Amino acid sequence: MERLEVAKKARLTKPSAIHGMSALAASMPDAVALSWARPDAPTPDHINNAAIEAIKKDLTSKYSPPPGLSKLREVIAEKVRRDNNIEVEADGVLVTTGAMEGIFAALLVLVDPGDEVLMPSPNYTTHELSVKMSSATPVYFPTIEEEGWRLDIDGLKKAITKKTKAILYCNPCNPTGAVFPEEDLRKVAEIAIENNLWIITDEAYEYFLFDGEKHFCIGSIPEMKGRVVENFTLTKTYAMTGWRIGYDVSTPDLIKEVIKAHTPMTICAPVVSQHASIEAITGPQDCVKEFYNHYLEWRNLMCSRLDRLSSIFSYHKPKGSYNMFPKILTKEGKDSVSFCMNLLKGAKVATTPGAPFGPTGEGHLRLCFCSSKEVITEAFDRMDKYFGI
Ligand SMILES: Cc1ncc(COP(=O)(O)O)c(C=O)c1O
Repeated sequence: MERLEVAKKARLTKPSAIHGMSALAASMPDAVALSWARPDAPTPDHINNAAIEAIKKDLTSKYSPPPGLSKLREVIAEKVRRDNNIEVEADGVLVTTGAMEGIFAALLVLVDPGDEVLMPSPNYTTHELSVKMSSATPVYFPTIEEEGWRLDIDGLKKAITKKTKAILYCNPCNPTGAVFPEEDLRKVAEIAIENNLWIITDEAYEYFLFDGEKHFCIGSIPEMKGRVVENFTLTKTYAMTGWRIGYDVSTPDLIKEVIKAHTPMTICAPVVSQHASIEAITGPQDCVKEFYNHYLEWRNLMCSRLDRLSSIFSYHKPKGSYNMFPKILTKEGKDSVSFCMNLLKGAKVATTPGAPFGPTGEGHLRLCFCSSKEVITEAFDRMDKYFGI
């Protein structure tokens, strides 16, 4: 009998090197991890309690409307007007099952098979997977490492073809920690208008910007109305990775389109988590400040420890997120997967190889500073020993 094959897009997609590394690290209980872009802190109590209250009142056993609880959509719209400078009402908000579902749903309704989606390199690896699974083709354009991983606007223009349909980026950037300045994003907006392209953004780290950097949303440019789907998530801001709540923001008409993909994927985002999210957004915000202060302290610690390893790594101080992307200076670093594998086996430190983050990711590794002072210190003590420093 003829072999039954999965679809070509799945056949041609290799399992990510990142997951291989994570699986190996998980099987080594004595390894310390700088590889997880996941806050170690628990979800704050007042948010947990809101979920418990909602369960007790039996508000959580049924579906919500597909776009989300109306109260949650309202408080999100208010937050987006206040913090993101985007004019939106509740009907321009779709509550999604985390950022990833929101981005995937947007891609599914905005691109056709064979369309090209432009992404900066390096970029968050899951975006490439989302583009491939939506039957479009990921195409990378360069960033300028020497300028702190700034977008290469000429490179973006050169990458546009007749097939280009959308630009997708995350700002602040995972893995580099770059914050794209307003000036550059305004140029991206002009390019999108000139070439009639969609823009999909991932603003997962919107509250974690350092050194006076400002977060700019391309959707706040009035001319971009109807051309952008911006995605935000609660997972990083409130240490809620497991609750799976994000949201798309766009025009009501585009949101109606995105719901066509959202409904068959998930019907609605988890209702208990939607109740917790109302509290997260409207309740005390000291937790966000606390997380911010920790990330800033841990970023500085990681950078000072990297300075001691200056014969092994060079780096740009990340301006946002809790990720950074040092360059590996040794010849072994040319193959980042084996470099990170050797580091894991030899020093018992888990890191993420740069190669899967796009064509310019090779020769680098991603380090996350969202764990704790102790974990970062222990990991660097081990690396100092391993590299003979
Ligand atoms: C840039 C970026 N976007 C999205 C996500 C995932 O977001 P969510 O948990 O809301 O799906 C991550 C997680 O690491 C991320 O780094």
